[in-house]
Amino acid sequence: MLSDRSILVTGGSSGIGRELVRQYAAQGARVLTTARRESGLLETIQGLDLERVITVPADIGSRTGREIVATEAMRISPIDVVVHAAGALGPKVPLADYPEAAWHEVFHINVTAVHLLHQLLTPLLSPTATIIGVSSSVGRRGRGEWGMYAVSKSALEGWLEVLADEWEGPVYSVNPGGTATPMRAEAMPDEDPATLPAPSDIMPIFLRLARAHPTAESGEKFDARDFIGADPWTVAEGNGQTVG
Ligand SMILES: NC(=O)c1ccc[n+]([C@@H]2O[C@H](COP(=O)([O-])OP(=O)(O)OC[C@H]3O[C@@H](n4cnc5c(N)ncnc54)[C@H](OP(=O)(O)O)[C@@H]3O)[C@@H](O)[C@H]2O)c1
Repeated sequence: MLSDRSILVTGGSSGIGRELVRQYAAQGARVLTTARRESGLLETIQGLDLERVITVPADIGSRTGREIVATEAMRISPIDVVVHAAGALGPKVPLADYPEAAWHEVFHINVTAVHLLHQLLTPLLSPTATIIGVSSSVGRRGRGEWGMYAVSKSALEGWLEVLADEWEGPVYSVNPGGTATPMRAEAMPDEDPATLPAPSDIMPIFLRLARAHPTAESGEKFDARDFIGADPWTVAEGNGQTVG
C-alpha cells in the first residue's frame, strides 16, 4: 500500500521507530532510517528487502550527524514522508532537582535536533510531503517528574503547529501513548510491559498517515491508541475525527 512512497524515519534502531521501519518497508515503501547504534539498525532491517531500506548510523544531536543523514537522504529524494521518532527521555526527577546538563541535552535532541535536521531535509522533500512528529501524553499535558521530556514534547507540539501553518503538505502530531519499548521501561521500571500495547499495536495511524493524500487536516493531533485494531487502509476513526 506504500510502494509509491519514500519515507525517512529517525530513531529506527529501537522501539517505535524500529516497528515503523519494518511496517513501512513491508508495505513496499523505500525507507531510510537513522539512529546512533548501527547494531540496532542492522537488527531492525533483518529479513527486510535490503534494496528498499537504507540505514544511516548518525547522531542527530551533532551537525555532522545531521549532515550525514541529509546527504544519504538524497538517495531517496523526493521524500514523501518524514517521521521524527528519535527521542531522549532524560532523568525522571522533580524540576527542582533537574540536572542542567540533562535539561539542555533532552531539549536539544527532542526539539533543536528535529528542527535543524528538518531544515536540512526540506530541499529533499516532495512539495506536499507528510511530516509526522512523535509526541507524548506529557507533551500535551505535563506531569510531575517528567521534567524536560514533558517540556520538550510540548515544544515539539509548538514546532509542529508552526510548521503546519507554513508547509504545503500535511503535518501531524502522533502521541503513541504508553508503549512497551526500552524508553518506556526506563521511564516506568516498575511497570509490567505485558500490560502495554506493543509498538506493532499502535501502527495503524502511522500507516494511514503515510499513505498518499490522507484526508486528515494538517495540524491534527492523534492518539495512536485510538486506532489500535483499526484497518489502516479503509477508515480509521479517533480523536472524534475521521481519517480515510
Ligand atoms: N514508548 C512510549 O511509551 C512512548 C510514549 C510517548 C512517546 N514516545 C516517543 O516515541 C519515540 C520513540 O520512542 P521509543 O519508546 O521507541 O524509545 P526507544 O526504544 O528508546 O527509541 C528511541 C530511538 O531514538 C534514537 N535516538 C535517541 N537519541 C538519538 C540521537 N542523538 N541521534 C539519533 N537517534 C537517537 C535511538 O537510537 P540510538 O540509541 O541508536 O541513537 C532509538 O532508536 C520517542 O520520540 C519517544 O519520546 C514513546
